[in-house]
Amino acid sequence: MVSRVIPVDPFDLVLFGATGDLARRKILPGLFHRFAVEQMPPDARVIGSARSEMDRAAFVNMARACLLEFAGPTAEDTEKLEAFLGQLDYVKVDATGDEGWAPLKDILRTDAVRAFYLSVSPSLFGAIATNLTQHGIATPESRIVVEKPFGHDLASARALNADLRKNFTERQIYRIDHYLGKETVQNLMALRFANALWEPLWNATHIDHVQITVAETVGAEGRSEYYDRSGAMRDMVQNHLMQLLCLTAMEPPSRFNPNAVRDEKVKVIEALEPVAQSDIVRGQYRALHGDDSYADHAGVPNSRTESYVAMKVNIGNWRWAGTPFYLRTGKKLRARSSEIAVVFRDPPHMIFPEMKGLKGNAMVIRLQPDEGIKLRNTIKEPGPGGFRLVEVTMDMTFADALDEDAVPQDAYERLIMDVIRGDQTLFMRGDEAEAAWAWVDPIIAAWEDAGTRPDMYDQGSSGPEDALMLLHRDGRRWREIS
Ligand code: BG6
Repeated sequence: MVSRVIPVDPFDLVLFGATGDLARRKILPGLFHRFAVEQMPPDARVIGSARSEMDRAAFVNMARACLLEFAGPTAEDTEKLEAFLGQLDYVKVDATGDEGWAPLKDILRTDAVRAFYLSVSPSLFGAIATNLTQHGIATPESRIVVEKPFGHDLASARALNADLRKNFTERQIYRIDHYLGKETVQNLMALRFANALWEPLWNATHIDHVQITVAETVGAEGRSEYYDRSGAMRDMVQNHLMQLLCLTAMEPPSRFNPNAVRDEKVKVIEALEPVAQSDIVRGQYRALHGDDSYADHAGVPNSRTESYVAMKVNIGNWRWAGTPFYLRTGKKLRARSSEIAVVFRDPPHMIFPEMKGLKGNAMVIRLQPDEGIKLRNTIKEPGPGGFRLVEVTMDMTFADALDEDAVPQDAYERLIMDVIRGDQTLFMRGDEAEAAWAWVDPIIAAWEDAGTRPDMYDQGSSGPEDALMLLHRDGRRWREIS
């Protein structure tokens, strides 16, 4: 196998919140995978930092345990595992106080890329950013990475941006939305902007509507405190679905660089029309066959938080006027399935009566599982017996043909390597995060004012019945969640 992995420069990555769930499940395993394929250089270091009283050996033990649990078969290679663990260090730091900053400064090298990953509550972003500058740890070249949720509404997102910008320039700030690190999401950009074929068709003249679905089978159990304050709108729509919508709808950027791409995404968000309450369905999963309901998981008996949302979104610009985007996302649905389906209009004049009942052209960009891009076409069924039409699917991913040995990369590992490379293309800019909140806030305010409760839906279903009506009344149907 010819390795296509390009090693990044030596780095010191300080991981704040190093004992937390995200660090254990995603960040440490992701770094280990990049180490295993030799993208992370042997002199790179990961410095765990948290308020827990532990020494380096205890942190390494914790990391070993989480890699064995979450890093898959690669962690069975003991030699590699131990070599990676050899690159870890730990410093106890008090995010809001003075303890730990001086020792942290002492162990950082001056000739390596310096990155700070804040896998902590957003309420600590400002304090950590300030401590990093006040203790002379942040340099003009160092990078700061922040996790979602990036605020709870526009006002809090603005405050977070202001806190970060007191200490770092926008060029140094990496706001993670891990959906942007998913392979197919990037493939969507390649498909749209590296081919001449699609662009002339990519507009309201040829596209009937777009469906964006992020369906999950997991519920809110285990993280109810955060989730019940957020709900699907804040947890998923404001960020992940918004990003998918932007990449599908944006104009071709003048070049593939961070600001050109992000400028175009901001324009899409700013073109989103306000959403009428009649174009939104909120749902909450209920108890079924002895399973807990959302309210049980949330520990809030009368919670009005939505675990599902479906909505019809119009983009007010020349490219998309008249082509709605239908978004839906929910927990405890029938399958884990995320996709963008671009559904083309019917031919303007139909010469085959048999075509009735067939679904027509659609491009389905599948994020997970079974990632790939497929194009639905209608052809003549081969062979004798009359002129019969059938639907066939053309696979445009060709993953097998490209590199059957390629090591799959998780979104987090790709994004962390981008941070080290200094590439912000797949990270949200501050104004983008604010624009998304500016669109979402009035929607949430309207349903809070109305005081309505979400519709109940069965666990394992496709969501509330009313969500079907959103499309039915427009003469369209949701694709099956499968
Ligand atoms: C997170 C949300 O950002 O994304 C979770 O907070 C959600 O609620 C998760 O489950 C989904 O990510 P993925 O990669 O599993 O689709």
